[in-house]
Amino acid sequence: MLDQSTSMPLDWVDTLSPADIQTPAFVYNADAVNARIAGLKDALGTDVIISFKASNQLDLLMRLEPENYDGIEVASRGELHLIAGRKGPDIFINTPALNEQLVRSGISAEATFIVDTPEHLDMIARLKGKRTVHPVSLRLSNKIIADVCPQAPTLRDDQFGMDMPQALAAVEKAKELGLQINGLHLYAGPHTFRKAARFVVETMKVAMTQIEEALGHDLEVLNLGGGLEENWPDLNHDFDGYRALLGELPSRCRLIHEFGRAIFSDCGIFAVRVQQVKHVMGQPYAICDGGMAQAFLLAQTEHMMRKYRQPRLLGRAGDVREDGLATIVCGSTCSRDDVIGKIPAEVKAGDVLIFEDCGAYTQTYSMNNFLQLGEAGTYVV
Ligand SMILES: Cc1ncc(COP(=O)(O)O)c(C=O)c1O
Repeated sequence: MLDQSTSMPLDWVDTLSPADIQTPAFVYNADAVNARIAGLKDALGTDVIISFKASNQLDLLMRLEPENYDGIEVASRGELHLIAGRKGPDIFINTPALNEQLVRSGISAEATFIVDTPEHLDMIARLKGKRTVHPVSLRLSNKIIADVCPQAPTLRDDQFGMDMPQALAAVEKAKELGLQINGLHLYAGPHTFRKAARFVVETMKVAMTQIEEALGHDLEVLNLGGGLEENWPDLNHDFDGYRALLGELPSRCRLIHEFGRAIFSDCGIFAVRVQQVKHVMGQPYAICDGGMAQAFLLAQTEHMMRKYRQPRLLGRAGDVREDGLATIVCGSTCSRDDVIGKIPAEVKAGDVLIFEDCGAYTQTYSMNNFLQLGEAGTYVV
């Protein structure tokens, strides 16, 4: 028998039957997503919003309980168009690549802008015409954290948000333009919760004092980003201590966290069907009907050291191969990089292989699904 102890079977996955799945396919479980969000709200004691880029499936979103989450954060016009018509919690637009089309769509959708530069305010003021827009939040750069808390660990550099002089310039600009600012956003980055969450709170305290002084009024919304891992329930985080820290922020403020992977990761799987098993010099290869074209991340093209995921067989237990060789799981493109996993089992044509923990980013982080940005045009001259 194949030892499957390394891949934790999820209850709902085992209710699926290979015959019911037209592969390649992503399968999501809405109850699992609802439970994850409820668990996060409970652990953090704040509002939780969905970072739609992690899993921008409208069908899934429609199956979530709207009273269970507090908003959706989108980062592109494609994402906004997917959700704009639906009735539900607040929409937040948060991207350094804000452009006129997205601003127009965002104003029509009555979304809240989280502005990344002072210039974003110019665009919003110019395009809003006579319409009212919700008060905006200012996105602060995570570089501010090291300034305020020199003892904070080094964070990966990124291009998001404003430093303090820029944020103060944004305050002045908003005053000139007649736009309201009522919030701040500070996100340390993915997987940073354990090492940086307390420094985010400390930095927020300092930054909000400076911004409120410049504004001449109180702030009402503090978004502390996310940064929880995909397997956060297993990591023994000190949520009691964190909630106590959050209690030091003014109680008048709406506190928000926003998550992608911590909500969706183990609520979705990717399934492929084996078309043929071939052996070259004894090495078994399972050629499947899907691979990097649908689940680019599994191909690990961006990793120096590729450590392939181990799928499992759906609907039957596999036997370990007598020769001890792992079957290399290949996708359906002609790229030699289209290897998405290895399985130490005897695999045969028609088998369905499933990859667990594919609910976040695996479907969206593909060449043209990411943020629904679309393909490049083609010209022949
Ligand atoms: C502003 C913002 N919030 C939240 C997220 C979600 O991050 P994660 O999936 O690590 O929770 C991202 C991811 O890129 C982001 O850019």
